[in-house]
Amino acid sequence: MLTAADFRAHFPFFAAHPDWVYLDNAATTHKPKAVIARELAFYQQENSNVHRAAHGLAQQATSAFEQARTTVHQFLRPAANSQLIWTSGTTAGLNQLAFGLMGTVLQPGDRILLSALEHHANIVPWQFHCERFGVFIDVVPLDSEHRLDLVTFHQLLEKKPKVVSLSHVSNGLGHIQPVEVMVAAAKAIGALTVVDGAQGVSMGPVNLAQIDCDFYLFSGHKLYGPTGIGALYGKTAALELLRPLLYGGEMIKKVSFTGTELNDLPYRLEAGTPNIAGALGLAAAVEFLQRFDLVTLQQYKQHLLKRLYLGCQQIPGLQLLSGLEDNAGIVSLVLPGEHPADLATLLDQQKIAVRAGSHCAMPLFAALQQSGAVRLSLAAYNTEDEVDLALAALTQAVELF
Ligand code: ALA
Repeated sequence: MLTAADFRAHFPFFAAHPDWVYLDNAATTHKPKAVIARELAFYQQENSNVHRAAHGLAQQATSAFEQARTTVHQFLRPAANSQLIWTSGTTAGLNQLAFGLMGTVLQPGDRILLSALEHHANIVPWQFHCERFGVFIDVVPLDSEHRLDLVTFHQLLEKKPKVVSLSHVSNGLGHIQPVEVMVAAAKAIGALTVVDGAQGVSMGPVNLAQIDCDFYLFSGHKLYGPTGIGALYGKTAALELLRPLLYGGEMIKKVSFTGTELNDLPYRLEAGTPNIAGALGLAAAVEFLQRFDLVTLQQYKQHLLKRLYLGCQQIPGLQLLSGLEDNAGIVSLVLPGEHPADLATLLDQQKIAVRAGSHCAMPLFAALQQSGAVRLSLAAYNTEDEVDLALAALTQAVELF
C-alpha cells in the first residue's frame, strides 16, 4: 500500500510549477498521471461512441465505459439495489433531481428542506422549480459554531418535507455534517434524502450503504478526476421516480409521432453522447486512489489542516470562520475591515492559490454576516512546507494592511 509521501509524485502539475502553493482544492484538484494518460489513450487509441454502433471498436468503448461505471459505483460502498448515473457534475445532478421530482414526488403545497450552508447548486434549482410548482422551502439555520442547528432541523422535520437535501461537507467552511443521523431522521418521516457530496466524496472512502441516503452526488474533478464528469448515485427505487431532464439519444427505446417509450435505468437519465473519456478518467482516478490507504491519506490531510489552522490562529487580526473539529480540510478566514479579494490578491502575488468571495454559498455568508471569506483548502498532496509558506505569506499580507 502506498503512503501519503508517495502521493504527490504522481501529479505532474507540481513538477511543472514548483513555485506555486496550491490551496484551492475545494474548487478543483490536480490530476494524477494515471488520469491524464487514461483520457489520452481513449482519444488516441480507442475513440468510438458507446451503446450505438455494431462495430468492435464501439463494443470495446461500451464495455470500458460500463466497467468505469461499476468501478466508480463500487468505490462509493453502495447500498444494495442502487445505481450510478453519469452526469457532467454535481450541479447537473442536482438540476436533474429538482426537475425530476416536481410533479412526480412533489405536488403543490408540499415542502422541501434545505440548509443555510448549501452551495447555490443545492438551492437555486429547487427554488426555480418550487416557485413554479407551489412547493415551499424550509431552511435549517446555523448554530453559533457555524454548523447546522440540529434542534431546528428536527423541528422542521415535523412539517413533513417530502425531500431533504443537504451537503455532506460545507464548501464554504469545510464543516462535516452529521449526514448519517440527519438522513435517518428524514427517512423516519418518509422524506426522500439527497446528499450533495461535492466536497464530501474526497474525504476518504465514503460509505453510502451506511449513510443510506436515496441520492448522493459528486463531481469527478474534486476527486482527482477530469472536469465535465460526475455522478448521480441513487437507490434504484428513488431513481425510478425521476422524470428525465434531458431527452434524446440512448435514453429512448422507441419513438413515433404517437408517443415515445423511454429506456430503462441508467440510460434513461443519460441523454446524448456521454463524456466517455471523462468517465474512463474518473474510473482511473478511483483506481489510482485505491492504490493508497485512504484512511492514512485522510489522517495526513487532517495533520496539515491542524498545522494550517493553528498557524492562522496565531496571526494577529485574522478571524477564522471555520472550526477545526469535524472539518474536511478547509480554513475560511477574514481580516475584519478588509475585502477578502484584496487579501487573496496579496497571496496570489506570493503564488499562494486560494479562493476568495462567497464561494457560491451567499446565504451561508449572509448568515455569518460576512461579504465573503478567503478559503484555503487542502488535499493529500500538499506538504507541511506549503502550509508554512502560506502562513508566512498570510502574515506578511496582514502586516501590509
Ligand atoms: N464549488 C466549487 C467551490 O466550492 C467550485 O469552489
